[in-house]
Amino acid sequence: MKFIKLPMKFFLFGIGLLSLCLLGCVNNERSRNWANPNVSGEVLVQQVCSTCHGIDGQSQNGMFPKLAGQNKDYIVGQLEVIKGRERDSAHTKQFMWGPGRYLTPKQMDEIAVYFANMPPMKANNVDPSIISDLTSYFSKPDPNFASGPTYKVSAADAALIAEGKEIYQKGIPSKEVKACASCHGELGQGDSPIPRVAGQHVYYLNYRARIAMTKIMANLSDSQINSISLYLASIQGPPNEEKATLDPVTKDSFAGEDKENDCHYSVWTYGWYCGSWMDAFVKSLKNQ
Ligand code: HEC
Ligand code: HEC
Repeated sequence: MKFIKLPMKFFLFGIGLLSLCLLGCVNNERSRNWANPNVSGEVLVQQVCSTCHGIDGQSQNGMFPKLAGQNKDYIVGQLEVIKGRERDSAHTKQFMWGPGRYLTPKQMDEIAVYFANMPPMKANNVDPSIISDLTSYFSKPDPNFASGPTYKVSAADAALIAEGKEIYQKGIPSKEVKACASCHGELGQGDSPIPRVAGQHVYYLNYRARIAMTKIMANLSDSQINSISLYLASIQGPPNEEKATLDPVTKDSFAGEDKENDCHYSVWTYGWYCGSWMDAFVKSLKNQ
């Protein structure tokens, strides 16, 4: 008899768990389901976007832009063109078309306010060992994912940084290059809808400047663009003026509960998985 009783207990326990899950699985406060319009922008930032952009908006990888203190209107504008697929560089397609696909205008607005209110992007350290070969560093299409192309600025960069600062602040009138500061602000803080660039990753700045600022960059040499990127990566801009208080993030804030629709990006295989974290992990092991 014992044999029958035991599985029966487990069976009932299983049903209990299942019904709990049915309730828990649609917890909009914890959902990772980016296709659910009822999940707030703040929850999406914590559950989905934080994977790459960091829970505090200070991403750790040079390929993933920092969004801490990024300007609200700029973020909304980018989310719109990402959703509309007008922003279609390789990295945007690969990483952002998924999370951006279903965002509603309300979610975009909430996401943008949440990031804009964070303490701004921190200055980066730039590694002297990379300086000697900047061009080859920037020309790598996919920087090493695991360690990330985080760049550390050193004293050896002083000359390059000074050159970058000069161009940023004054432009190059003889080449009809306008001062970047005239739009992005003296301190690189931008001005909605113009993006904050101070404290951004050097790799991202260098790569994006050439795409977003095609006309201006055409009149600058590679080495000048490198210098400006180094300068901007090495400074921190001021926080946004209209700063609201953010709810504190605890270690539980971003534990997902939406098992059915749980989508996340796997750094093992560079691919999106929808389903449970366990499935994603097993799949990624198989793909290794
Ligand atoms: C898998 C990693 C990943 C996830 C998850 C992710 N992003 Fe991104 N995001 C990126 C990358 C990479 C780029 C840069 C694309 C490029 O280089 O053009 C980017 C760019 C952006 C930009 C443009 C920033 C700029 O300075 O122009 C915004 C805004 C953004 N993401 C918001 C979000 C939001 C909101 C979410 C969550 C709903 C999210 N991202 C989730 C990787 C990710
Ligand atoms: C006339 C105003 C103006 C000037 C001058 C200007 N920018 Fe911009 N910049 C913008 C705007 C607007 C955008 C956003 C473009 C978009 O919406 O795609 C931008 C985007 C960027 C981006 C992409 C930021 C991101 O988060 O993806 C970088 C990097 C950048 N600019 C660097 C520079 C540098 C370096 C200079 C000087 C050599 C410069 N800009 C001069 C207006 C300007």
